[in-house]
Amino acid sequence: MGARLENKTVLITGTAGGQGRAAALLFASEGARIVGCDLKGEDNQETVRLVRAAGGEMVGMEPVDLADEAQVKAWIDFAVEQYGDFDVLYNNASGVRGGTVEGLSREDWDFNLANEVTNVWLAVKHAMPVFRRKGSGNIVITASVAGILAAAMPGNIPGNFVHNVSKAAVIRMMVNLAVELSPHNVRVNSISPGIIDTPATHGLIELAGEEVFTQGTLTKRVGQPDDIAYAALYLASDESSYVNGANLVVDGGWTASGGAGRPDPELAQVLAQAMADLTNVPTGEALVKG
Ligand SMILES: NC(=O)c1ccc[n+]([C@@H]2O[C@H](COP(=O)([O-])OP(=O)(O)OC[C@H]3O[C@@H](n4cnc5c(N)ncnc54)[C@H](O)[C@@H]3O)[C@@H](O)[C@H]2O)c1
Repeated sequence: MGARLENKTVLITGTAGGQGRAAALLFASEGARIVGCDLKGEDNQETVRLVRAAGGEMVGMEPVDLADEAQVKAWIDFAVEQYGDFDVLYNNASGVRGGTVEGLSREDWDFNLANEVTNVWLAVKHAMPVFRRKGSGNIVITASVAGILAAAMPGNIPGNFVHNVSKAAVIRMMVNLAVELSPHNVRVNSISPGIIDTPATHGLIELAGEEVFTQGTLTKRVGQPDDIAYAALYLASDESSYVNGANLVVDGGWTASGGAGRPDPELAQVLAQAMADLTNVPTGEALVKG
């Protein structure tokens, strides 16, 4: 057991699997008391069992629908009843519905905003009385490369329209929260994962093949839940106490490369030849050729 989160109580949303479960296990192994929640009952309780079996401390509440304000408030109240005023709120959960601009229904649009944007705001809103009382707080929010780059899908295929809009909104929300909550000593940061192998994506990665997702990255592998959990651990701990209003991209270099991946040797060869040809012609002509 480490001590990077010793004596801290951390609330994590969406702890039934994927990145939420990985964070619960890692944070607890660093000394945090965890309060989780999820829509999924059995899987969330399994996370509680796993954390306890590893010697950590965790309670979970489920089913909690984070798009429902009364249920969010009930979860925050439950957390305070269990462990008193908490230190960190990690907004990890989200629910997504895909669709193109014309293919998306109004219901799917509303669902996505409710489960990717409104849920984050509601949890922050109801956590704030606790942070005000304590005189400090720390909020970590999971955004996505979907909020940053192009269509955020390999080959720029459309289909994540409202998800991309929602994750961009979450990044803006994070910055606004960092500013508005700063007088209360609450710092706010986000993480933007690239493709991570979780229950949400596993089937797609398996069907399409990893290569589809790694051809646009610099680090040639699909991300794992622990890649994000370690970034979240840093932001949740006091090691990052001077980091405020930042969006930490954890995507194997996908956005850094513009989604184009490592240098392409064939294109490089064509370009090198063109540059060599240009230097062999007189300067004036080279300028004309452009
Ligand atoms: N997996 C990826 O490639 C990837 C990439 C970028 C960003 N993200 C983001 O990472 C976060 C974690 O996703 P994941 O990949 O671990 O997915 P996941 O589906 O494994 O986990 C998300 C959890 O949130 C829960 N949840 C969803 N809506 C909820 C609601 N209204 N109330 C309560 N719980 C709810 C789900 O039941 C699930 O257990 C999400 O915010 C997601 O958008 C994921």
